[in-house]
Amino acid sequence: MYKPHFQIKYGSSAAKAYKADALLLLQQLPSNSVDLIITSPPYCVGKEYEKSTSVQDFLTEHIRIFPELARVLKPGGSLCWQVGNHVRSGRLTPLDALVYFASTFTPQLILRNRIVWTFGHGVHCANRFSGRHETILWFTKGEKYKFNLDPVRIPQKYPGKRYYKGPKAGEWSGNPKGKNPGDVWDIPNVKAKHPEKTKHPCQFPIALVSRLVTALSKPGGLVMDPYLGSGTTAVVALKQRRNFIGSEKKAAYLKIAKGRIEQLKSGTLKIRDDVPVRIPDPTESVSIIPPHFAAFKKSARTAKTKRLKQTE
Ligand SMILES: C[S@@+](CC[C@H](N)C(=O)[O-])C[C@H]1O[C@@H](n2cnc3c(N)ncnc32)[C@H](O)[C@@H]1O
Repeated sequence: MYKPHFQIKYGSSAAKAYKADALLLLQQLPSNSVDLIITSPPYCVGKEYEKSTSVQDFLTEHIRIFPELARVLKPGGSLCWQVGNHVRSGRLTPLDALVYFASTFTPQLILRNRIVWTFGHGVHCANRFSGRHETILWFTKGEKYKFNLDPVRIPQKYPGKRYYKGPKAGEWSGNPKGKNPGDVWDIPNVKAKHPEKTKHPCQFPIALVSRLVTALSKPGGLVMDPYLGSGTTAVVALKQRRNFIGSEKKAAYLKIAKGRIEQLKSGTLKIRDDVPVRIPDPTESVSIIPPHFAAFKKSARTAKTKRLKQTE
């Protein structure tokens, strides 16, 4: 077994991170030893940590790694694989379709949810609709698994709703513990002004990983992230009293991950709570329509009227 790059205790839990290739670390781990794997692999889109920009390489890597992921998971364990789209020269490949295809060679893995993670910010496209979601495929190893729904329930939109017909007509219909959060999660992505932003180019938000760790593992369990990056999964696992193991190829990112765990320990880690996205007040300067928007609208209206007249 490799020597860990760092190993940190947090209360009765511990995190171990290896400077290693994901597949090589997985091959060193015993079978049936991990409760939950959460990760976001490289998308082959030309980020600073990627060598390949080929969709074929992405698929080949996934076909190689999935049997090992399934082997190390405990029966009933969960695998959460977060990806977006590969876009080149305006051609889009939804990477979760390839991940799902790769998973079909490992029939112990059963897909339970395709969670759509939606966010408000990103590149503004001119030739197609701007991309504002990515996905998380949640698989379990085998038929039997645990799902702790209650701690991740969210407040109902209409808590005072009542049954309007049937034997319970007139009684309140909502669950007092809150409602199932559904499979579309609106959680801000970690861009420039996000409080959790580090130098890593594509971090998970803590809120996203927190829901998965809470719902799909127990305190004292073992959580893994084979593509650790800035260490978000490690931070959440420790915060929630789980143990952690992970791999990352770049020393600079391992340094960031270690720093974040140390901040968690000292109580200085900045975290955006899992709360609804704030809608700015109409009086805030960002809500006020600049004068040239109105002028532009007027000239666009005039041009449209002219076009309509020409076609009459
Ligand atoms: C999408 S990022 C993960 C970011 C992470 N979820 C976070 O919150 O910071 C993918 C990471 O995988 C690392 N990586 C790429 N290929 C790897 C490999 N074969 N083994 C281990 N890590 C790898 C990259 O350096 C990068 O930090």
